[in-house]
Amino acid sequence: MALKLNTEYLENFVSAHEFEGMKPLCKAADEVLSSKSGLGNDFLGWVNLPTNYDKEEFARIKKAAQKIKETSQVLIVIGIGGSYLGARAVIEAVKSSLYNNLPKDTPDIYFVGNSISPTYLSQVLEICKNKDICVNVISKSGTTTEPAVAFRIFKKLLEDKYGKEGAKERIFATTDRKVGVLKQEADKEGYETFVVPDDVGGRFSVLTAVGLLPIAVAGCDIDALMQGAADASKKYVGVESDCHKYASLRNIMYNKGKSIEMLISYEPTMTMINEWFKQLFGESEGKDKKGIFPSSAVYSTDLHSMGQFVQDGSRVMFETVIDVKNPQQDIFLEIDKENNDGLNFLANQNMSIVNKRAMQGTLLAHTEGGVPQIVIEMDKIDEYNIGELIYFFEKACAISGYMLGVNPFNQPGVESYKKNMFALLGKPGYEDMTAELMAKLK
Ligand code: PA5
Repeated sequence: MALKLNTEYLENFVSAHEFEGMKPLCKAADEVLSSKSGLGNDFLGWVNLPTNYDKEEFARIKKAAQKIKETSQVLIVIGIGGSYLGARAVIEAVKSSLYNNLPKDTPDIYFVGNSISPTYLSQVLEICKNKDICVNVISKSGTTTEPAVAFRIFKKLLEDKYGKEGAKERIFATTDRKVGVLKQEADKEGYETFVVPDDVGGRFSVLTAVGLLPIAVAGCDIDALMQGAADASKKYVGVESDCHKYASLRNIMYNKGKSIEMLISYEPTMTMINEWFKQLFGESEGKDKKGIFPSSAVYSTDLHSMGQFVQDGSRVMFETVIDVKNPQQDIFLEIDKENNDGLNFLANQNMSIVNKRAMQGTLLAHTEGGVPQIVIEMDKIDEYNIGELIYFFEKACAISGYMLGVNPFNQPGVESYKKNMFALLGKPGYEDMTAELMAKLK
């Protein structure tokens, strides 16, 4: 078994006829996607990507990953949004959220250029002192401020440390095939480059070089990742598929006033998958004053912070729970003769059983509390299953967005803060806005 949708906790919330009633809309959305006739249809490269990818580049990614592993203790991955979340999500899910702290034969990986915090960047620079490093700078547009600032700083660090010639062997640029400042710079300086295909948007790009190079450096099996996604692309076809059902359920929830979806996991290693999911659905659906607000929690951790609200607060949310059947590791709980802590009732079994009971207890409690819960059962967390999960969510997001009536593949809202920031920083070309915004700030 790989992924499977379990709807048994929805019985009180969604009836069979409601589900039937959504099918025509789902079918129409599916047809628009398959015939490439919908909004944003020039960004559908991700649909066939798992089978139809550049095999020559894929081999080069593996070679570059090997070179980075052999020459570095640290890989710095520079990128923001879709240019970093997918890689970090897969690495942490498959390897660990403690990846950098565990003994391993692969480099530590730090993600920078995903904020403008001088404190964070200074701390990563401090870590890099006296270490051999490589840099993978990732920007589809090649013009995004956050990664550009971080790259300027790391490029200087590498050139100071290894000289211009040495640095160029350690810098890998993932960007547009032809255009953008980063592409120009990479060509001029002679960096090895990888391509973000024109027809794949940032948040759908984890299975391109954007995600694959850092993921391969972390020692993950990128063939298995692609295979999971490729099998998913064959499995999730037609309105009866779990992927289409999930897209329909989301729209049913939304129509009933459930405007928040919480993606829930019981494994902390899935924390960044939650973040990737939030970008995927948030940027794809949150537009035209519509959309489900994607949020997330890791239980049981967050049951001790958000649990009260979910159980008992405003009834605005539904949960999508990832139920991982087999943990990557387990701990056997032994009997303690003295039983001072009174925990012997938990002993003589694996800790994963306790985690499972926590999940089952929560599913029942939240159902009782009026929170609809969609469950996605997942065999285990490995490259293959994560590849399938990625494709499942990408396709569900496209179908769900078309059902909602939005263009799931643009992100006009991301530009507004950038214009204001550029004007406030005095970027050439923004002079008219500068005075106006400065006056507002006062
Ligand atoms: O999904 C998106 O398009 C965005 O999140 C981008 O990935 C993000 O803004 C970074 O853009 P770029 O890769 O062009 O630097």
